[in-house]
Amino acid sequence: MDSIVVTGGQRLNGTIPISGAKNATLPLMIASLLTSEPVIFENVPDLADVNSLIRILTNHGVDYRVEGKRRGQQDLTGRTIHFSAEEIADTTAPYELVAKMRASFWVIGPLLARMHEAKVSLPGGCAIGTRPVDLFIASLEAMGAEITVEGGYVIASAKGGLKGAIYEFPKVSVGATHVAMMAATLAKGKTVLKNAAREPEVVDLATCLISMGANISGVGTSTITIEGVENLHGCRHRVLPDRIETGTYAMAVAMTGGDVLLKGAQPGLLQEVLDVLERVGVTIEPVNDGIRVSRNGAALKPVDIATDPFPGFPTDLQAQFMALMTRADGVSNIQETIFENRFMHVQELARLGAKIALDGQHAEVTGVAELTGAQVMATDLRASVSLVIAGLAAEGKTTVSRVYHLDRGFEHLEEKLSNCGALIERVSG
Ligand code: UD1
Repeated sequence: MDSIVVTGGQRLNGTIPISGAKNATLPLMIASLLTSEPVIFENVPDLADVNSLIRILTNHGVDYRVEGKRRGQQDLTGRTIHFSAEEIADTTAPYELVAKMRASFWVIGPLLARMHEAKVSLPGGCAIGTRPVDLFIASLEAMGAEITVEGGYVIASAKGGLKGAIYEFPKVSVGATHVAMMAATLAKGKTVLKNAAREPEVVDLATCLISMGANISGVGTSTITIEGVENLHGCRHRVLPDRIETGTYAMAVAMTGGDVLLKGAQPGLLQEVLDVLERVGVTIEPVNDGIRVSRNGAALKPVDIATDPFPGFPTDLQAQFMALMTRADGVSNIQETIFENRFMHVQELARLGAKIALDGQHAEVTGVAELTGAQVMATDLRASVSLVIAGLAAEGKTTVSRVYHLDRGFEHLEEKLSNCGALIERVSG
């Protein structure tokens, strides 16, 4: 298993290109199941999760084609991929494929909408809590689906097709909003989703569905209305920039000091995070082609945060922010409100010398003058990158093992950081 070795103490200076958002790419790819015509996505990141989902989609009968390099293109990041679900060959998503990544469960929406049946294994994914699927089931049942859970599979059918419904989510869920919205595009009549997620990735999916011919309004608010249509058609869509990657590198620069242009980043996608970083003492400057993040030698101020659905502070940046706060000049409080078990990075950060007291969903972080390099273990996607960030500022060498977690969601991490002066390398083993 590969490890990443970071030697801390270097400031970051230069440019980091921001990739297409993983969390937008996955539902967009799944939406290709809704139409027999080709859908083409630009700016698709080259990530293990994208490749896992390709395996799932091809099992359903989707053909795909990656566009080759074009004249003048520097490298193959931000690929353009064509997906074509001309015919759905299989409506079952088997355990071996779904277990790797929770989002693959989301195929249930389009399969049910287009084929009126689906059999999808209960999901796997990051071990950050129990993560049930009750909201998916309830919203699809509201649209007339009959659903049973047997032998680890969710088996759904909608004879004669799904029907429009009014459904209020008891809790905000990004995945369940994606799925209900996709399912409703082909349902008969009007669907109103209340307490829907407002995340930019939901907006990106809706924008794509609208270009495919769907009739959707209210996107970006907590009430989304979908008027079902007979068929959807193909389209071309550019994936929005990754706000979690943007926030992660902004925090890395905050940690080490330096001056970096996050190229292609859009401030509106993470305003709350940028505001918090400014309070910490980081200089944030939106520029034409991205966001410039810099910090001179000034101390990091402690700031309290609580994670929240968008537009609040994203849970996917909680671990990275905690890493940053381990070096703040004072005590900060971090409250995780989305997932019940998302503090697995705490004991690993402690190995680097961080002082963190945990009490349920709350962490009290007392900043220390220095972190010291150590061997640590990646436990989930965002937690692993928090260890890299901490390692960038630690004295000596930090070795992060189990980096397959990182490969699920961060494109060319070592390259992007080392181009800005970080001492970071991947060691195979
Ligand atoms: C998505 C993101 C993930 C992010 C999360 C919250 C992708 C691929 N993943 O995950 O990176 O951390 O949003 O912003 O986009 N819940 C239920 N029942 C359900 C569904 C969810 O109780 O049926 C709960 C979850 O356990 C969690 C909360 O709702 O406590 C929010 O989860 P949700 O928004 O669904 O997360 P994901 O869509 O899985």
